[in-house]
Amino acid sequence: MNLKNVCLFSAIILMFTLVFACKKEQKPKIKFPSTDLAKESIIPKPLKTIATNSAFGLDKHTAIYTTKGAAGFENIGLFLAQKIKSKIQLNIPVNSENENPIERVIYINKSDSLDLKEPEAYQLYINQDSIIINANTAEGAFRGIQTLRQIIPTTSNDTLAKHKIWPVPSGKIIDKPNFSYRASMLDVSRHFFSVTDVKKYIDLLAYYKINTLHLHLTDDQGWRIEIKSWPNLTKIGGKTEVGGESGGFYTQEEYKEIVAYAAKRYMTIIPEVDMPGHTNAASVSYPILNGNGKTPKPYEGMRVGFSTLDTRKDTVYSFIDDVVREISAITPGPYFHIGGDESHVTKKKDYIYFVNKVEKIVQKHGKRMIGWEEIAHANVDSTSIAQYWTNPKTAKKGVLKNMKIIMSPAKKAYLDMEYDTLSKHGLHWAAYIPVDTAYLWSPENHDGIPRENILGLEAPLWSETISNIEELEYLAFPRIIGYAELGWSTQENRNWEDYKIRLGNQTPFLNCMNVKYYPSKLIDWK
Ligand code: ACM
Repeated sequence: MNLKNVCLFSAIILMFTLVFACKKEQKPKIKFPSTDLAKESIIPKPLKTIATNSAFGLDKHTAIYTTKGAAGFENIGLFLAQKIKSKIQLNIPVNSENENPIERVIYINKSDSLDLKEPEAYQLYINQDSIIINANTAEGAFRGIQTLRQIIPTTSNDTLAKHKIWPVPSGKIIDKPNFSYRASMLDVSRHFFSVTDVKKYIDLLAYYKINTLHLHLTDDQGWRIEIKSWPNLTKIGGKTEVGGESGGFYTQEEYKEIVAYAAKRYMTIIPEVDMPGHTNAASVSYPILNGNGKTPKPYEGMRVGFSTLDTRKDTVYSFIDDVVREISAITPGPYFHIGGDESHVTKKKDYIYFVNKVEKIVQKHGKRMIGWEEIAHANVDSTSIAQYWTNPKTAKKGVLKNMKIIMSPAKKAYLDMEYDTLSKHGLHWAAYIPVDTAYLWSPENHDGIPRENILGLEAPLWSETISNIEELEYLAFPRIIGYAELGWSTQENRNWEDYKIRLGNQTPFLNCMNVKYYPSKLIDWK
């Protein structure tokens, strides 16, 4: 602990001493039954957990305090209070000075400790009278309160005192992520998902410390983001979806609402505009863009690889410049995803010419380009990122270019793959992915992609076979919870037998959130 922290802890202890000294009589210490923090069903598994076998008594005499003047910290305190309220209906004041007698505090503390130098690192100290969350950044504090949320019991112990007490197991957790990039992708093009649905997905992902949501905003079947300079994209291209349902799109205001909602949960939104293939909806809206030689017609089927932009037309690059500019202006995150997959009707030399040009446009608008692994065929910069999904040889071309790689191997990490032959939704062109298969692989050591090139892990959810939130949840849950652990926890800390017990214990949370998860028989759901 450095000097500043020592001072701060002394201040907290002094505050306590004063609070207790002002009381007429000292309350007897609560006698908690023995607990074991190390046996809590925390997902993702923290780096280090040391149990001290007592408990913090969360009750109506608890208050939350946050470091004064530390940007974002007070909002995190308020977020925690709101989650405690919705979990156990207990109101806890935040940074309040005149409340009823406060006997215990949860302190969210900005710390300069060198142990916390990684942005999402945090420490959680749970004692009988205090819980202290130390983090260098608000992001780290936010990850820390997810851990705390998970270990607050759903039911109170009513034998410890005259009032309800929720005993939180005591001890110490030291934690930080294995990968800085931990994501899911949602395809809102093949079927559209409302802002409300996306927000619910964000809430669920954030609880498991996922920090990135990639939105696949455009494809052959629908264009889902308002572009003010090209209004037909949504007026015409937004009206279709797989199976002939009614489509939809986000206005820029709605997209900003999603971005802001994610940002409050320290989650980055990555917009994807898939090109030069997967562009039928764009060409239906503006036929001048089309490069496949056929008159574009709306498409609501499930084939891929038949569309392309005309890669040799200036108008196409003006169009892309407008699209990237408008979306980048409302996307605070560092990335822009250009798709680039399955451009089967684009000639290879045209594809390379196209990706090279689009990379410059993305960079001009201040973003770092991501594309599916195929972009590694072009002369891309080492700052661009390739997303490995199906062909390790192509992904390794990206490695040779010193690119970072996002691991999304379809056989392991595609959320739209069926669990087994009885699955209600999904496809199986890559594999059947039961809940254990989804967990039992190592993104840090897979298909020969070197660890030092790996930015992180992303689990994509394509939506050809799902059209509402329940169906989304069926495919995503529980597998995404395992991917959250593969992204955050170290290989040494991951173990299927241990994980599957912790997963079974997620039932109260999933039920409380009304998540229609797939009740895999491999798991003993509590
Ligand atoms: C993909 O699944 N076409 C990236």
